[in-house]
Amino acid sequence: MSDSIDDFPFIRFEKRPAVELGFQPIPMNFENPPKDPVAEVLRWLDEAFQLPIPNPNAMSIATINADGTPSLRIVLLRGFDKHGAVFFTNRLSRKGLALSHSPQAALLFHWDHLDRQIRIEGKVTATSDAHSDAYFFGRPRMNRIGAWASDQSRPLADRASFESRIREVENRFEGKEVPRPPHWGGYRVALDSIEFWQGDTHRLHERIVYRKSSAGWNIGRLFP
Ligand SMILES: Cc1cc2nc3c(=O)[nH]c(=O)nc-3n(C[C@H](O)[C@H](O)[C@H](O)COP(=O)(O)O)c2cc1C
Repeated sequence: MSDSIDDFPFIRFEKRPAVELGFQPIPMNFENPPKDPVAEVLRWLDEAFQLPIPNPNAMSIATINADGTPSLRIVLLRGFDKHGAVFFTNRLSRKGLALSHSPQAALLFHWDHLDRQIRIEGKVTATSDAHSDAYFFGRPRMNRIGAWASDQSRPLADRASFESRIREVENRFEGKEVPRPPHWGGYRVALDSIEFWQGDTHRLHERIVYRKSSAGWNIGRLFP
Protein backbone atom coordinates (compact mmCIF):
# COMPACT_ATOMS: atom_id res chain seq x y z
CA MET A 1 0.00 0.00 0.00
CA SER A 2 1.44 3.36 -0.97
CA ASP A 3 0.87 6.35 1.23
CA SER A 4 -0.54 8.39 -1.65
CA ILE A 5 -3.04 11.05 -0.68
CA ASP A 6 -5.45 9.17 -2.97
CA ASP A 7 -5.54 6.16 -0.61
CA PHE A 8 -8.63 7.31 1.19
CA PRO A 9 -11.84 5.38 1.84
CA PHE A 10 -14.73 6.52 -0.33
CA ILE A 11 -17.89 7.71 1.36
CA ARG A 12 -20.59 5.60 -0.21
CA PHE A 13 -24.16 5.24 0.90
CA GLU A 14 -27.51 4.46 -0.61
CA LYS A 15 -29.50 7.53 -1.52
CA ARG A 16 -32.82 7.69 0.31
CA PRO A 17 -35.22 9.21 -2.24
CA ALA A 18 -37.28 12.08 -0.85
CA VAL A 19 -40.48 10.39 -2.03
CA GLU A 20 -39.67 7.26 0.01
CA LEU A 21 -39.17 9.47 3.06
CA GLY A 22 -42.71 10.72 2.55
CA PHE A 23 -42.01 14.04 0.88
CA GLN A 24 -43.43 14.82 -2.52
CA PRO A 25 -43.43 18.43 -3.61
CA ILE A 26 -45.80 19.67 -6.30
CA PRO A 27 -43.49 19.50 -9.34
CA MET A 28 -42.49 22.54 -11.33
CA ASN A 29 -43.62 22.39 -14.93
CA PHE A 30 -40.25 22.20 -16.66
CA GLU A 31 -41.83 21.62 -20.10
CA ASN A 32 -43.82 24.81 -19.90
CA PRO A 33 -41.92 26.81 -17.27
CA PRO A 34 -43.68 29.52 -15.28
CA LYS A 35 -43.17 33.03 -16.65
CA ASP A 36 -42.42 34.48 -13.22
CA PRO A 37 -39.51 32.87 -11.33
CA VAL A 38 -40.14 35.10 -8.30
CA ALA A 39 -43.54 33.51 -7.73
CA GLU A 40 -41.97 30.08 -8.25
CA VAL A 41 -39.28 30.75 -5.61
CA LEU A 42 -42.05 31.79 -3.20
CA ARG A 43 -43.96 28.60 -4.03
CA TRP A 44 -40.87 26.43 -3.35
CA LEU A 45 -40.24 28.34 -0.10
CA ASP A 46 -43.83 27.76 0.90
CA GLU A 47 -43.40 24.01 0.37
CA ALA A 48 -40.11 24.09 2.31
CA PHE A 49 -41.94 25.76 5.21
CA GLN A 50 -44.17 22.70 5.45
CA LEU A 51 -41.16 20.48 6.17
CA PRO A 52 -40.32 19.34 9.71
CA ILE A 53 -37.01 21.25 9.66
CA PRO A 54 -35.88 24.16 11.84
CA ASN A 55 -34.77 26.68 9.21
CA PRO A 56 -36.44 26.22 5.81
CA ASN A 57 -35.32 29.79 4.97
CA ALA A 58 -31.62 29.03 5.55
CA MET A 59 -29.44 29.81 2.56
CA SER A 60 -25.72 29.72 1.89
CA ILE A 61 -24.24 32.98 0.69
CA ALA A 62 -20.92 33.12 -1.12
CA THR A 63 -18.95 36.34 -1.29
CA ILE A 64 -15.57 37.36 -2.67
CA ASN A 65 -12.89 38.60 -0.27
CA ALA A 66 -10.66 41.57 -1.10
CA ASP A 67 -7.85 39.16 -2.09
CA GLY A 68 -10.16 37.37 -4.58
CA THR A 69 -10.71 34.26 -2.45
CA PRO A 70 -14.27 33.00 -1.93
CA SER A 71 -16.01 32.55 1.41
CA LEU A 72 -19.32 31.01 2.30
CA ARG A 73 -21.70 30.85 5.26
CA ILE A 74 -25.38 30.36 6.07
CA VAL A 75 -27.79 33.21 6.77
CA LEU A 76 -31.59 33.33 7.02
CA LEU A 77 -33.67 34.78 4.21
CA ARG A 78 -35.83 37.53 5.71
CA GLY A 79 -37.52 38.97 2.64
CA PHE A 80 -38.03 38.03 -0.97
CA ASP A 81 -39.70 39.84 -3.84
CA LYS A 82 -38.91 40.98 -7.39
CA HIS A 83 -36.29 43.42 -6.02
CA GLY A 84 -34.21 40.68 -4.43
CA ALA A 85 -33.43 38.41 -1.51
CA VAL A 86 -32.86 40.16 1.83
CA PHE A 87 -30.88 39.03 4.88
CA PHE A 88 -29.58 40.83 7.95
CA THR A 89 -26.13 40.84 9.45
CA ASN A 90 -23.28 42.83 10.94
CA ARG A 91 -21.88 44.97 8.11
CA LEU A 92 -18.41 44.90 9.71
CA SER A 93 -18.35 41.08 9.68
CA ARG A 94 -16.18 39.13 7.28
CA LYS A 95 -19.06 38.92 4.78
CA GLY A 96 -19.83 42.63 5.29
CA LEU A 97 -16.25 43.62 4.50
CA ALA A 98 -16.22 41.30 1.48
CA LEU A 99 -19.46 42.87 0.22
CA SER A 100 -18.16 46.42 0.66
CA HIS A 101 -15.18 45.47 -1.51
CA SER A 102 -17.06 43.32 -4.02
CA PRO A 103 -20.83 43.91 -3.91
CA GLN A 104 -22.00 40.68 -5.51
CA ALA A 105 -23.09 37.35 -4.09
CA ALA A 106 -24.30 33.86 -4.90
CA LEU A 107 -27.08 32.32 -2.81
CA LEU A 108 -27.99 28.67 -2.47
CA PHE A 109 -31.01 27.02 -0.94
CA HIS A 110 -30.93 23.24 -0.59
CA TRP A 111 -34.02 21.37 0.57
CA ASP A 112 -32.83 17.79 0.71
CA HIS A 113 -36.26 16.47 1.72
CA LEU A 114 -37.65 17.85 -1.53
CA ASP A 115 -34.61 17.01 -3.68
CA ARG A 116 -34.45 20.66 -4.70
CA GLN A 117 -32.03 23.51 -4.86
CA ILE A 118 -32.30 27.13 -5.96
CA ARG A 119 -29.30 29.24 -6.92
CA ILE A 120 -29.51 33.02 -7.10
CA GLU A 121 -26.78 35.39 -8.23
CA GLY A 122 -26.72 39.14 -8.28
CA LYS A 123 -25.43 42.49 -7.20
CA VAL A 124 -25.73 43.40 -3.55
CA THR A 125 -26.90 46.66 -1.99
CA ALA A 126 -27.45 47.63 1.63
CA THR A 127 -31.10 48.10 2.57
CA SER A 128 -32.17 51.53 3.84
CA ASP A 129 -31.87 52.57 7.51
CA ALA A 130 -35.66 52.70 7.75
CA HIS A 131 -35.93 49.16 6.42
CA SER A 132 -33.19 47.84 8.72
CA ASP A 133 -34.86 49.57 11.69
CA ALA A 134 -38.21 48.04 10.82
CA TYR A 135 -36.73 44.56 11.03
CA PHE A 136 -34.43 45.24 13.99
CA PHE A 137 -37.18 46.59 16.25
CA GLY A 138 -39.28 43.50 15.60
CA ARG A 139 -36.56 41.29 17.13
CA PRO A 140 -36.54 40.16 20.77
CA ARG A 141 -34.64 42.48 23.15
CA MET A 142 -31.94 39.87 23.78
CA ASN A 143 -31.21 39.56 20.04
CA ARG A 144 -30.88 43.34 19.85
CA ILE A 145 -28.46 43.30 22.78
CA GLY A 146 -26.50 40.54 21.02
CA ALA A 147 -26.18 42.71 17.92
CA TRP A 148 -24.32 45.30 20.03
CA ALA A 149 -22.30 42.79 22.04
CA SER A 150 -21.00 40.66 19.15
CA ASP A 151 -18.07 41.94 17.11
CA GLN A 152 -19.06 39.37 14.51
CA SER A 153 -16.09 37.60 12.85
CA ARG A 154 -13.48 39.27 15.15
CA PRO A 155 -11.23 37.21 17.48
CA LEU A 156 -12.80 36.42 20.87
CA ALA A 157 -10.53 35.44 23.78
CA ASP A 158 -13.07 33.35 25.67
CA ARG A 159 -16.77 32.88 26.40
CA ALA A 160 -16.51 34.99 29.55
CA SER A 161 -15.40 38.04 27.54
CA PHE A 162 -18.52 37.75 25.38
CA GLU A 163 -20.76 37.35 28.43
CA SER A 164 -19.24 40.39 30.11
CA ARG A 165 -19.84 42.44 26.95
CA ILE A 166 -23.48 41.29 26.97
CA ARG A 167 -23.82 42.42 30.62
CA GLU A 168 -22.19 45.73 29.78
CA VAL A 169 -24.68 46.33 26.91
CA GLU A 170 -27.59 45.27 29.15
CA ASN A 171 -26.51 47.85 31.73
CA ARG A 172 -26.00 50.54 29.11
CA PHE A 173 -29.57 50.18 27.81
CA GLU A 174 -31.30 49.28 31.08
CA GLY A 175 -34.85 50.67 31.09
CA LYS A 176 -34.35 52.03 27.56
CA GLU A 177 -35.10 50.92 24.03
CA VAL A 178 -32.12 49.06 22.48
CA PRO A 179 -31.33 51.02 19.30
CA ARG A 180 -30.05 49.46 16.10
CA PRO A 181 -26.24 49.47 15.96
CA PRO A 182 -25.08 51.60 13.01
CA HIS A 183 -23.14 48.62 11.63
CA TRP A 184 -26.11 46.22 11.70
CA GLY A 185 -28.54 46.03 8.81
CA GLY A 186 -29.89 44.34 5.75
CA TYR A 187 -28.46 43.46 2.37
CA ARG A 188 -30.48 42.85 -0.76
CA VAL A 189 -29.14 40.43 -3.38
CA ALA A 190 -30.65 41.42 -6.74
CA LEU A 191 -32.13 38.65 -8.87
CA ASP A 192 -29.76 38.74 -11.86
CA SER A 193 -30.21 34.99 -12.29
CA ILE A 194 -32.33 32.31 -10.63
CA GLU A 195 -31.77 28.61 -11.25
CA PHE A 196 -34.19 25.88 -10.21
CA TRP A 197 -32.93 22.31 -9.81
CA GLN A 198 -35.31 19.45 -9.20
CA GLY A 199 -33.98 15.95 -8.60
CA ASP A 200 -35.44 13.12 -10.63
CA THR A 201 -34.94 9.37 -10.75
CA HIS A 202 -31.79 7.95 -12.35
CA ARG A 203 -30.10 11.35 -12.36
CA LEU A 204 -32.44 12.78 -15.03
CA HIS A 205 -32.58 15.94 -12.99
CA GLU A 206 -34.20 19.10 -14.26
CA ARG A 207 -32.45 22.48 -14.40
CA ILE A 208 -33.86 25.71 -15.61
CA VAL A 209 -32.25 29.11 -15.38
CA TYR A 210 -33.88 32.54 -15.59
CA ARG A 211 -31.58 35.42 -16.50
CA LYS A 212 -32.79 38.96 -16.16
CA SER A 213 -32.62 41.19 -19.26
CA SER A 214 -34.05 44.61 -20.02
CA ALA A 215 -36.91 42.87 -21.85
CA GLY A 216 -37.77 40.55 -18.96
CA TRP A 217 -36.59 37.03 -18.14
CA ASN A 218 -34.61 34.85 -20.54
CA ILE A 219 -35.36 31.24 -19.79
CA GLY A 220 -33.00 28.38 -20.62
CA ARG A 221 -32.57 24.74 -19.74
CA LEU A 222 -29.24 23.23 -18.68
CA PHE A 223 -27.93 19.68 -18.75
CA PRO A 224 -28.02 18.43 -15.20
C1 LIG B 1 -29.02 28.24 10.46
C2 LIG B 1 -28.10 29.44 10.57
C3 LIG B 1 -28.64 30.71 10.39
C4 LIG B 1 -27.81 31.85 10.46
N1 LIG B 1 -28.37 33.07 10.19
C5 LIG B 1 -27.57 34.16 10.18
C6 LIG B 1 -28.10 35.44 9.79
O1 LIG B 1 -29.27 35.58 9.41
N2 LIG B 1 -27.25 36.50 9.83
C7 LIG B 1 -25.94 36.38 10.22
O2 LIG B 1 -25.22 37.40 10.24
N3 LIG B 1 -25.40 35.19 10.54
C8 LIG B 1 -26.19 34.07 10.55
N4 LIG B 1 -25.65 32.84 10.86
C9 LIG B 1 -24.21 32.76 11.21
C10 LIG B 1 -23.37 32.77 9.93
O3 LIG B 1 -23.41 31.49 9.32
C11 LIG B 1 -21.90 33.17 10.19
O4 LIG B 1 -21.31 32.34 11.16
C12 LIG B 1 -21.77 34.62 10.64
O5 LIG B 1 -22.67 35.48 9.97
C13 LIG B 1 -20.35 35.12 10.44
O6 LIG B 1 -20.00 34.98 9.08
P1 LIG B 1 -18.77 35.82 8.41
O7 LIG B 1 -17.64 35.73 9.39
O8 LIG B 1 -18.49 35.14 7.13
O9 LIG B 1 -19.26 37.24 8.23
C14 LIG B 1 -26.44 31.70 10.78
C15 LIG B 1 -25.91 30.41 10.97
C16 LIG B 1 -26.73 29.30 10.85
C17 LIG B 1 -26.11 27.92 11.01
